Order: sequence, then C-alpha cells, then structure tokens
Amino acid sequence: MKLMSIAGARPNFMKIASIAKAIENYNNNLPATAALQSKIDHVLVHTGQHYDKKMSQSFFDDLGIPQPDINLEVGSGSHAHQTAEIMRAFEPVLLRESPDILLVVGDVNSTIACCLVGSKIQYTAESKRERPVIVHVEAGLRSYDRSMPEEVNRILTDSLSDVLFITEESAKDNLLKEGIVSEKIHFSGNVMIDTLKNHLKHAEKSGIKQDLGVSSLYGLVTLHRPSNVDSPEILKDLVDTLLTISKKKSLVFPVHPRTRNNLERFSLYSKLEESSDIILSGPLPYLDFLNLTMGADLVITDSGGIQEETTYLNIPCVTLRENTERPVTVDVGSNYLIGTDKERILQTTDIILSGQGKKGTIPKFWDGKSGERIIATLVSLNNNF
Ligand code: UD1
Repeated sequence: MKLMSIAGARPNFMKIASIAKAIENYNNNLPATAALQSKIDHVLVHTGQHYDKKMSQSFFDDLGIPQPDINLEVGSGSHAHQTAEIMRAFEPVLLRESPDILLVVGDVNSTIACCLVGSKIQYTAESKRERPVIVHVEAGLRSYDRSMPEEVNRILTDSLSDVLFITEESAKDNLLKEGIVSEKIHFSGNVMIDTLKNHLKHAEKSGIKQDLGVSSLYGLVTLHRPSNVDSPEILKDLVDTLLTISKKKSLVFPVHPRTRNNLERFSLYSKLEESSDIILSGPLPYLDFLNLTMGADLVITDSGGIQEETTYLNIPCVTLRENTERPVTVDVGSNYLIGTDKERILQTTDIILSGQGKKGTIPKFWDGKSGERIIATLVSLNNNF
C-alpha cells in the first residue's frame, strides 16, 4: 500500500507526526515473514504553505517527522492564488507517484487543494486504480460559519473524501446531515492529542520561560484568525482587552506573522511592546509552546487546535470566537466560547483567575492511540479499495 500524506501549514504538522509514527510502528511490527508488499510505503508531501523555519522546519525537528519526500514550495498568496498554485504543483507529483491512498488532514488551503486534485486525477492505464482513495483525518468539524475559509475547506474536503476519520461524535451528525453515508465515517479520536501526549516529557525540559524572562504566573495568548486580526477596530479592542487583563495577570503572547503584520500596520504593536506586563515573542517551536501552555493559568486564543490541547491538559481556555467547530471542548472540556466583546472576556477571565473556572474531562478516544486506529482501519479496508 502506497500512502501519500499532505502537510502544508503549522497545525498540519502535529497531525502528520502521529500518522508518520503510526505507519513506522506498523511497518516495524510486521512479522519477519511478512511479504515486502505488506509494508506501507509512506510518501510525505509538504506544500510549502508555511515556510518560515519557525512555522515549519522547527516542527519537523521537534516532532521527529521524517523530512518531506517532496516540497512544492508554494508559499503565501491570496486564497485563490495559493490554492491554485498548490493544485498546479501537486498534479504532476500525484500522477508520477500514483499512490493508493491520498491522506489529507485538517482544514487548511493545502488540504482542499490536494484533495481536489486527487478526486479528479486520472492515473495512467498501467496503474492498478484510476485515482487514489481519499482519506480525510479530522473530518466532520463544522462551525456553520462560511465566512471562515477553513469551513469552506472542511465542507468540500469531506464531500470529496472516501474515508473520513472523526475526532468527536458531533462530527458524525454533521456529516450525516450533509448526506455522507455512515459506512465512510470512522471514529478514530484525535491525532493532535497523540502528538501532545508523546511530547509532554520533552516539553517539560524546554527552557523557553527562562529565555523569555517569564518569572511569574501567566496567561498565554494566541491570535491569528482573519476575523480577529484583519480588522483594525476589532484588533484594537482586543489589544485594549489584553492590556486590561495583563494588569491582573501577566501575559505571554507569541505573535503569528499575519497578526504581527497587522499590529504594525494599525500602529498597535508598540502599545503591546510598551507594556511591562506582556511578553511578546515570534511564533514558537512546538515544544516551547507546549511548555508555556502546560504552565499557564489560562489560555486566550482563537485557534482551533489550542482549544483541543487545553481541553486535554484541563487548562481553562477563553476562545475569542462566536462559534467553534470543536463543541466537545466546550461541552466536556475546559473551553469557554466567548467571542470578542471586552466585557464578556473580562468577566470570564475574572472567574478563571479567581479559581472558579470549570473543570473539564477528556473526550472519548483522545487517548494517544488515534494514529494507530487510523492505520489499522486503512489496512483492514485496503482489500476493499
Ligand atoms: C493558515 C490556515 C489556518 C491555520 C493557520 C495556522 C488556511 C486558509 N488557513 O492561516 O487555518 O489556523 O494557518 O497558522 O489555510 N506567513 C509567514 N511565514 C510563513 C507562513 C505565512 O510570514 O511561513 C505570513 C504571510 O504573510 C502570509 C500570512 O502569514 O501571507 C498568512 O499565511 P497563510 O498560510 O495564508 O494563512 P494563516 O493565517 O497562517
């Protein structure tokens, strides 16, 4: 079985790390007598959607992901430009490699671009199949907010996929509502949590707190959603809110490149820099960021993955969005879905900082074995593909 997986942007790398490890374990545990073709031949493609060392290579280093076999080096651009460039660069690679399985993860532009190419490709006559079986890991999540680029990517990727692995039970209902038959849906759990569990010990050893000069208890902040950081009014209100919170609890804020660009463009970066209660940094490597998350009293974010990671770690998370595609983090986890209203954010952080925050539990199958479940399922389905 030849399996091609796609990694493009930062949140993909943690998911691919779990898949790559599960494939390696599967191959290593085959009986010595097993035929060579029982092995899974894994081809890893990096689209180059994220390319800065801190947004990409550092994750490969920290997570021990094998170097990509192919890098499309596509880079940044508008949605149409980036998606189209990935498709153009990916098509000849897919034709040449003709994998049995094309596995995509998450909801970024690389996910839909490669999925779309895979669903329409026509392999050559010598190939044993016409096109790859398309597998989507982290299927069925829905915010029901189509102004989010990721929501469009999710809906399209799911509708084109042949095998859909879900992280939480709500995803199954979403997929069934869209007419996807239940035979295609498999509850595997969360591969992002596999990687988190595998790296907790390593992360404890990170010296990032000393490097950044973090001496007191702190809250951790991340912001990068276009809906929060591309509008000067919203971003200004959020900066004011962070400055107010920082008077009660110092904050550590690793700033995403999109956010940094906009903070500078709207003359807001200096306001944060001038505060002695906010420590700023650039994007951080995985282990350093996980170290900061583990040590935080609260996390303030608009990320999808961080809602899940804080739920696993049972750390109160204030999500600065009106909706979440990951409702289990609110229903059973430690996540609060708050939006961007200053008063609501302050009320919620006050509750958390007074020690009255809710105590979450860990969702079903977020147990570190999701990658293994996915590979076992694909191997057992392989005869029917
Ligand atoms: C992308 C994903 C988003 C994910 C996020 C994590 C889509 C639609 N969005 O958003 O779901 O949560 O990644 O970070 O795929 N840039 C750099 N260096 C890099 C990469 C980007 O400086 O290595 C800057 C560029 O100015 C670029 C901007 O960041 O234009 C945005 O990058 P892009 O990949 O378009 O989207 P993200 O906001 O990162």
